[in-house]
Amino acid sequence: MTIIVCPKCSRRHRMDTGKVTENRRILVRCKACSHKFPIYVSPTTASPQETESPGLADNQQGARKICVSLSKGGVGKTTTSVNLSAGLAMAGYKVLLVDTDTQGQSSFALGKKTHVGLTELLTGELAPEESIIPARNNLWLLGGGRSLAGVKRIIDKKSFGAEWALSEAMEPLDKKFDYIIIDTSPGWDQLTVNVLFYATEVLTPVSLEVMSLHGLAEFTKSLHAIQKYKQVSLDFVLPTFLDTRVDQPLHIYEKLKSMYGDKVCEPIKYDEQFARCPSFGKTIFEFAPDGRGAADYRELIRRITKNSGALGEKTPNSQTIVSSF
Ligand SMILES: Nc1ncnc2c1ncn2[C@@H]1O[C@H](COP(=O)(O)OP(=O)(O)OP(=O)(O)O)[C@@H](O)[C@H]1O
Ligand SMILES: [Mg+2]
Repeated sequence: MTIIVCPKCSRRHRMDTGKVTENRRILVRCKACSHKFPIYVSPTTASPQETESPGLADNQQGARKICVSLSKGGVGKTTTSVNLSAGLAMAGYKVLLVDTDTQGQSSFALGKKTHVGLTELLTGELAPEESIIPARNNLWLLGGGRSLAGVKRIIDKKSFGAEWALSEAMEPLDKKFDYIIIDTSPGWDQLTVNVLFYATEVLTPVSLEVMSLHGLAEFTKSLHAIQKYKQVSLDFVLPTFLDTRVDQPLHIYEKLKSMYGDKVCEPIKYDEQFARCPSFGKTIFEFAPDGRGAADYRELIRRITKNSGALGEKTPNSQTIVSSF
């Protein structure tokens, strides 16, 4: 089986080239945009274009599936999903970033336009490995976007097993990656429920303001309802937007620690570079690798991987020695 990529719309199609016995030039037509284009096939090299699953090896243990979630908007879910995924990939792990948001901002932040993604996977239009695109070395993307709104309606109409739709569709990908990071939309809907039925770990970014504490309490209540049916735990509470010049965020940080104990990670400080890098399609590691934002996300990656040497050792004054980038 070979993957053929349409040069016009980038849609990926599977083609059975197993029966090819001689070098041939054939004309094919893209099912999505009807564009016709020639391809060359031979018995030895199945296709001059992409081969299936470039660089994806089997990980028999299965990926760690971490969803980045909080119903409150604007707390740093997408920023965390993108930079966590990129940092893990730079540390050498194979990573899939799944964008389950209709805003499609994860793809934008990585500077990628996705013509295929979660919609095609959930509707069964494309196989899992045809729905993902490479975004960086070791990093793949399963794009979200506006078309997901229609998918939510399809999931809603399922008469039973609706909350497992994502898990069933993703199952073939679970063993292909070390980490699957899922960015979620604000609010709470059928797709959020599907994500929580699929993920095994939850990372919750909490911007250090009173309303976010309230949002976190509401979110943990909803999570408890899901925990009655499957194992999923809130393992990481990530304080974001810490501004050390003001008292209130520090008070809220202390409060979070008193409520959630060692689940609370080292905070991500306020850094205006975060708002700038998506418009360049760059991660914080590419845009401002020596800044405090990149240092904070490196620290998060060390904590999640339990690998204190990942992406350079931390020095006593909280700066990092950068070795990988
Ligand atoms: N630590 C930070 N310091 C300063 N700005 C930040 C920080 N983290 C994120 N931002 C900026 O804040 C805005 C909201 O962040 P982001 O989009 O990641 O939140 P979100 O929770 O995904 O939002 P939504 O709920 O709408 O999906 C973005 O412009 C982002 O660049
Ligand atoms: Mg977002």
